[in-house]
Amino acid sequence: MKVSFLDLKRQQAEIKEKLLTTTSNIIEEGWYIGGKHVTQFEHAFSGYLKAENCISCANGTDALELILKGFGIGKGDEVIVPSFTWVSDAEVVHAVGARPVFADIPMDSYCISGETIANLITSKTKAIIVVHLYGIPCHMDPIINLGKEYGIKVIEDCAQAHGASYMGKKVGTIGDAAAFSFYPTKNLGALGDGGAIITNDATLAQTVRLLKDHGQKARDEHVAIGENSRLDALQAAVLSLKLSYLDQWNDERRRLAQIYLSGMNKLDMKLPDNGIDRVFHLFVIQTALRNQLRKYLSEHGIETAIHYPVPIHKIEAYQVSEVLPNSERAAGEVLSLPLYPGMEDAEVEYILDHVKAFMSTGK
Ligand SMILES: Cc1ncc(COP(=O)(O)O)c(C=O)c1O
Repeated sequence: MKVSFLDLKRQQAEIKEKLLTTTSNIIEEGWYIGGKHVTQFEHAFSGYLKAENCISCANGTDALELILKGFGIGKGDEVIVPSFTWVSDAEVVHAVGARPVFADIPMDSYCISGETIANLITSKTKAIIVVHLYGIPCHMDPIINLGKEYGIKVIEDCAQAHGASYMGKKVGTIGDAAAFSFYPTKNLGALGDGGAIITNDATLAQTVRLLKDHGQKARDEHVAIGENSRLDALQAAVLSLKLSYLDQWNDERRRLAQIYLSGMNKLDMKLPDNGIDRVFHLFVIQTALRNQLRKYLSEHGIETAIHYPVPIHKIEAYQVSEVLPNSERAAGEVLSLPLYPGMEDAEVEYILDHVKAFMSTGK
């Protein structure tokens, strides 16, 4: 059997007719940038999260950068970011002229914590970017408390956690602001790029709305130096349609993950944390035999991926002198197995059988 790591066509198949109607309507309407579909999606997404403001933009990286700019973070400032994450989280800090300070992850989690952050705070720290990696919500209370104590903004990166909750609140509504990506592979993905900023801070909402539209308050009234970061009408309409399937697709991801988990709990490997109301963006396992296991699975037709093989502080362009043992170890040991709505149970079972076979013989 051959199992691909991801097959977006299968997930889309269920709503293909609706997608075609949506796309065809937009073409007929002849209004491709801004307009009612963008506004409707912003309202629908903030309503889903129970947040006051949703400001759409071109992608998740822009969303993070716009938040930093909106809070006035720049030269001379420090922002605490995880090293074990997608590179955008550090990239945007450099983009605004500030310095990323890399935090390690705790041994038993993939999310930075109050403990791994506390001793990195200095008088220059202006923000902490928290990433709900793989769909696992970070333990936010201690981080929010640190933010309050030191007057530091807490920014949630929710690119991998659409629909996850922490203590009964959707992630993205817990910190001062949040960034979402709608990259096609995400749990809520467009048919292209897309992103959004979520915040209950009215001043930030107003500022990022200006900044993402060339600093315009109204047509040709430029009151700030901005940029161009737009979600187009087509992507907005597609996202509104797909938003109505998000919970159902998240449940399907959980169900498939449960098949993996039920067969893996006796194996000598670290399994994704299952305690909180997480979603499964990725199904990640951790073992010191990662490279050998990956090769074995590949020989049996199973595609896997690694999120992420190099922690950001070890990327040549970013290299800094910090030693972050848990991030470095995770980067050498994590393996993402296929998991997406549209996968057959038989495919998950085939993968599970091969993981079990490899782990029990240590081949
Ligand atoms: C954790 C995380 N942050 C930020 C991003 C950036 O999102 P985008 O690709 O939409 O710019 C991604 C996307 O891969 C991500 O996984």
